[in-house]
Amino acid sequence: MTINRRQFLLQSSATLAALATIKQRALAKALEITSIKDLYKDDFYIGTAIGDRQMHEANPKFMNLVAKEFNAVTMENSMKWERVHPRPGKWNWELADKFMDFADKHKMFKVGHVLVWHSQVPSWVFQDEAGKPLDKNALLARMRGHIGKIAGRYAGRMNSWDVVNEAIDEDKGWRKSPWFNIIGPDFMDYAFNFARETDSSAQLVYNDYNMHNPGKRAFLVDYIRKAKKRGVPIQGVGLQGHVGLDFPDISEFEASLKAYAAEGMRLHITELDLDVLPVAWEFSGAEISASFEYSDKINPYPNGLPAKVEQQLTDRYVEFFKLFLKYRDHIDRVTFWGVSDKNSWKNDFPVKGRTNYPLLFDRNFERKPCYDAIAKLKI
Ligand code: XIL
Repeated sequence: MTINRRQFLLQSSATLAALATIKQRALAKALEITSIKDLYKDDFYIGTAIGDRQMHEANPKFMNLVAKEFNAVTMENSMKWERVHPRPGKWNWELADKFMDFADKHKMFKVGHVLVWHSQVPSWVFQDEAGKPLDKNALLARMRGHIGKIAGRYAGRMNSWDVVNEAIDEDKGWRKSPWFNIIGPDFMDYAFNFARETDSSAQLVYNDYNMHNPGKRAFLVDYIRKAKKRGVPIQGVGLQGHVGLDFPDISEFEASLKAYAAEGMRLHITELDLDVLPVAWEFSGAEISASFEYSDKINPYPNGLPAKVEQQLTDRYVEFFKLFLKYRDHIDRVTFWGVSDKNSWKNDFPVKGRTNYPLLFDRNFERKPCYDAIAKLKI
């Protein structure tokens, strides 16, 4: 049978379409059996954060998803001072212990978050019994006691500690927190030294948001250089990565990865999420005390994300993951700040009650297009 040119072209495009479908199906199948942690296993750990309630309930469906997709975990709140050590001498170990056991069972990289921070720390920490501000030595003793107890409990098991969180202001050097105000700028040295005397093996990390900011970058690089000369055991820098569709400028983010790596720091992306909602009042930090008034205007997608924005979210994630792959030799871990959009803190920060879409899994715990796109970079 002979066929004319038109029939030939029709047939070959049908064959191509069939092949494309087969390829799509094979890809979908490959994605189904594999997971993001396996695809990136030669590059860096892929982590997530587990909330208090999620750890408490330990819903098997949720925990299985975490174990399937991720090989690094952080507690979103339960190791913070106000949760684990709410009153002098009172320690809540239940959720933290449960977290460690779960992570050990699945051989995950365990991150302790966080030892010294100005947020989610009770005010008694900085006061004596009469409510008067502690002096430097008394606060140092308290810091050492806290670190000794929690880092000591998990010493030899914890893989990495966020030793100090958010100690640097964008353009003004040290944040004027009670730690800084009472102890002075060497509070950070002390925190790292106390962590090391307690746990000789965990990787010790400084963690912060807006790490692309040139002022923060320069200040931190200067601190690291001097601290290393003083023998301070800082080993890594955590870039939280609370990013948006159009902030930060990716080249500034890259400049920071490069600068911290050049100081010999291991890099951790510690709290990645991608905000798609309108920026509230030009605010782009993650200082958790910030809060702005709700209005429908700044909650434009309460019933689902328009395809165009979904695509922007996907493209932006791909842009970041290409960058992470470029620095794979320096990056130990990329951790998302949660699993599903349903439970993300970004629904309530910095404006309460919005509907945000920052993570890899949707509100039904299904993989989103951004998941597939990040996965495809490795297939
Ligand atoms: C957030 C949690 O996700 C929220 O559940 C909590 O209410 C406030 O803290 N930087 C950090 C994280 O280091 O600990 C913060 O986590 C987000 C900003």
